[in-house]
Amino acid sequence: MRNQEENSATLVFPAVGQAAAEYIGAATLRAERIVCASSVPCDNVGGQFGDIRHLPSIYHDDFEHAFLALAKEQSIARLFCPVSTVYAFMRQFLSVQHLDIQLIGFSPVRQQIELHRQLMSRTIKLLALVELCAAGASSLSLLEVAGVIKQASLIYGESNDDKLAAMMGVLATASSGDVVEIGSLMGRSAFVLLYLARRYSVGSLLTIDPWSPVECIQRESPSALQTVADEWDYEVLSEGFAVNLAPFGSGDHAHIRAPSSTAFELYARRDVIRSSRGDPVDYLGSISVIHIDGNHDYDSVKKDCALWLGKMLPCSWLILDDYIWTHGNGPYRTGNELLQEHADRIECAFVCGKALFVKFSF
Ligand SMILES: C[S@@+](CC[C@H](N)C(=O)[O-])C[C@H]1O[C@@H](n2cnc3c(N)ncnc32)[C@H](O)[C@@H]1O
Repeated sequence: MRNQEENSATLVFPAVGQAAAEYIGAATLRAERIVCASSVPCDNVGGQFGDIRHLPSIYHDDFEHAFLALAKEQSIARLFCPVSTVYAFMRQFLSVQHLDIQLIGFSPVRQQIELHRQLMSRTIKLLALVELCAAGASSLSLLEVAGVIKQASLIYGESNDDKLAAMMGVLATASSGDVVEIGSLMGRSAFVLLYLARRYSVGSLLTIDPWSPVECIQRESPSALQTVADEWDYEVLSEGFAVNLAPFGSGDHAHIRAPSSTAFELYARRDVIRSSRGDPVDYLGSISVIHIDGNHDYDSVKKDCALWLGKMLPCSWLILDDYIWTHGNGPYRTGNELLQEHADRIECAFVCGKALFVKFSF
């Protein structure tokens, strides 16, 4: 019995599209035996599903015989079905045939409906946070916040929903000026900043990330964190960032691939900084919002603040990431020092999504 279970397989039918590819990828990692089948020869685009068995169309008379034969031959115990019409047909087919085959998950359409409902109920809470942080200045609708959160979730990153919601709030109150991000990884927070900078006509976005192993070493953090950084392919991160932001245009955004201190020299000198399409981006030379999320060692965060905060406009926002952080206390120490040092010009400060938000009044 146990041997039979161990030898059982999951049939992916029809093996087509992203959902099937993702299921197969995850199943392979957990050593689940997979059999792929399709009725349409061109489904296996570029051979991405490996060997693929043919099954007749569900509307064809041969389907029943062919499916039962394949199920028996391959000890099929589970069925993953990424197409709604086939899912509905198979649910009925398995029941009529009294087959002991588990149909995995919800139908694709129902899955989307569930995901959408989850997003909207999460967004209702986030909208309250956006409005609280904006102190009445937000003009973002529930649908807009949901759209930004959903789009951001498609980009790999380290900014959580609460922090992104607080960003959506504070940019509503930002004065005109440059928006700067130090440390972009694959662009999650950069995308949100770009959207908001446009939405509230704040100014152009400058993102900075060297994507280099030397710069990424967190000397003060436990070695477990170093191991994660060792796995990064920096060229892929850089290309991934470009891909993730490409659909959103680039006239008001440029990226400097260099450490923040080098980028600061270019910015302070008012050098021409060009977008990914090669056009000069219009920067004011003074900052309305800065998101500091680069190297988290104390000396690095301290240096980022020492250099860049001198360029802040009156009524500007500092977002200091990982003020609350389990892997070190560079942002926490720096943040506390700033709060003390600039106490007389801080209009408000709060912590949200582990980041420290500080509004300077002058
Ligand atoms: C925590 S990640 C940024 C996450 C990103 N803001 C997000 O929301 O997904 C830190 C990034 O800082 C970058 N970094 C490290 N040292 C840096 C430096 N000296 N200047 C600018 N960026 C740096 C790393 O390459 C890495 O991509």
